[in-house]
Amino acid sequence: MTASNNLAGDTTILIFGASGDLTTRKLIPALFQLSRQNYLNERCPVIGVARREKSDEQFRNELKSSVLKDDDTAEALAAWETFSQQLFYRQVDITCEADYVALGQATEELEQRLGTEADAPRVVYLATTPSLFDDAVRGLNAAGMIPTDRRHSDRLRVVVEKPFGHDLDSAELLNEQLTNQLHEDQIYRIDHYLGKETVQNILLFRFGNAFFEPLLNRNHVDNVQITVAESIGMEGSRGGYYDTSGALRDVLQNHLLQLLCLVAMDPPALFQAREIRDEKMKVLQALRPGSNGHVDTWAVRGQYTEGLVNRQPALAYRDEERVPANSSRETYVAMHAEIDNWRWAGVPFFLRTGKRMTERVTEIAIQFKHPPLNLFSTIECEGDLCSIVEARPNQLVLRIQPKESIFLRFSTKRPGMQYQVQPVAMDFDYEDHFTTHLPEAYERLLLDVMRGDSTLFTRSDELLAAWRFVAPVLRHWESGPAGLEFYPAGTWGPSSADRMLAESRRVWREPKV
Ligand code: BG6
Repeated sequence: MTASNNLAGDTTILIFGASGDLTTRKLIPALFQLSRQNYLNERCPVIGVARREKSDEQFRNELKSSVLKDDDTAEALAAWETFSQQLFYRQVDITCEADYVALGQATEELEQRLGTEADAPRVVYLATTPSLFDDAVRGLNAAGMIPTDRRHSDRLRVVVEKPFGHDLDSAELLNEQLTNQLHEDQIYRIDHYLGKETVQNILLFRFGNAFFEPLLNRNHVDNVQITVAESIGMEGSRGGYYDTSGALRDVLQNHLLQLLCLVAMDPPALFQAREIRDEKMKVLQALRPGSNGHVDTWAVRGQYTEGLVNRQPALAYRDEERVPANSSRETYVAMHAEIDNWRWAGVPFFLRTGKRMTERVTEIAIQFKHPPLNLFSTIECEGDLCSIVEARPNQLVLRIQPKESIFLRFSTKRPGMQYQVQPVAMDFDYEDHFTTHLPEAYERLLLDVMRGDSTLFTRSDELLAAWRFVAPVLRHWESGPAGLEFYPAGTWGPSSADRMLAESRRVWREPKV
């Protein structure tokens, strides 16, 4: 992250899986934005690689509409004309080593054509199914595209997309395959959550300010709730993939545990990739189930049935396209975890994520302990109707999306002749304070790979530690459908998740978007 203020120099970008959805929807639009903002110069070839035969012109035309879909102004069109000149396509069968020799030659030829600086780094983005990662890296090796001299290893950076493994064993195998050919610092494992502006702000908010950090520990915090709720279901025939994955693998094991690390980690000695990732790793090493009992006491799963989401009828998961009618795949997971370290021992971390929930909202809510004595009565009013309610604890909420914000709920005196408490909120809203648009996660992450900054990427030990933590739950759930509870689409999930918190007389926060 120390390099973050630098512009990237010349870089060649090769995208494997160039005909796929990720390339069209995310990668090329992100590179286009980087080019518009002068982060990607015209000497950087962007080479799409896939199995089908296609000319450069066809490739450019296919991508044009997706890139200009939200902005077809004359300025955007002119910027596209410039950018598309550095966009190329080469046909490669990823499983065929011989094709890589031709790819290596084509890459050099295009670099010469655009005047790319000699020895400029090459970024290979593997936007393919993980089963092809090994073939791709072997092919690059066979064609001599992986620098053999350790001093120049940074000339090749390989970006890999999730799912990075299906469980601990497969993640270990994948890691082994990659590290047989590459050094760990050549591998950039993307978790797009870390590219979100508001996620990066967690560290700055915590360690760039003096007043909250001293409170973030077991002496003051009662519990932490991390929610990644989505209102979407299985749009775009996603059911086929999702049914092999489920909420635990798809979101909790990666995005949600990364958020947990950022909110729970200790300050690093230096704000640099290694130190930050070391601190995150310590959190994962200290992560424990929230109870000593059976998995069902600290992890619950649910699946949505039909219902109404934003007043629109939504199908049951089992009726979605490409989902088996008897599927017991979880579309919701909630977990009670604890971090056994000096700072957090005894503080419950409640995690939840699900599809087809009431709202799309991602937030971290830190709930503080009650004051030791309740001296005042608490009043809450809805319109003119006021009533005395139980005192509400202070909460600090980091809202990641939508309506990116940070707010603090605390008590004030209600104006009048008595001492009555009214909860109020103090908030900071991104939209009100900044006019600049929040960059897309992929823009930031691609730029970081080009700059050689791996801070926002997951290191192999973090990844394996996260798989290790969820392994007992996966094992238990794979053994049968017991414990799967249904919840209607458009709600906050199954009641077993509420019961899990009720055990300790706590409740989920209901995020109001
Ligand atoms: C992806 C998951 O990693 O993250 C999807 O595979 C999920 O299922 C998505 O919808 C959520 O990302 P975002 O940025 O929309 O919150």
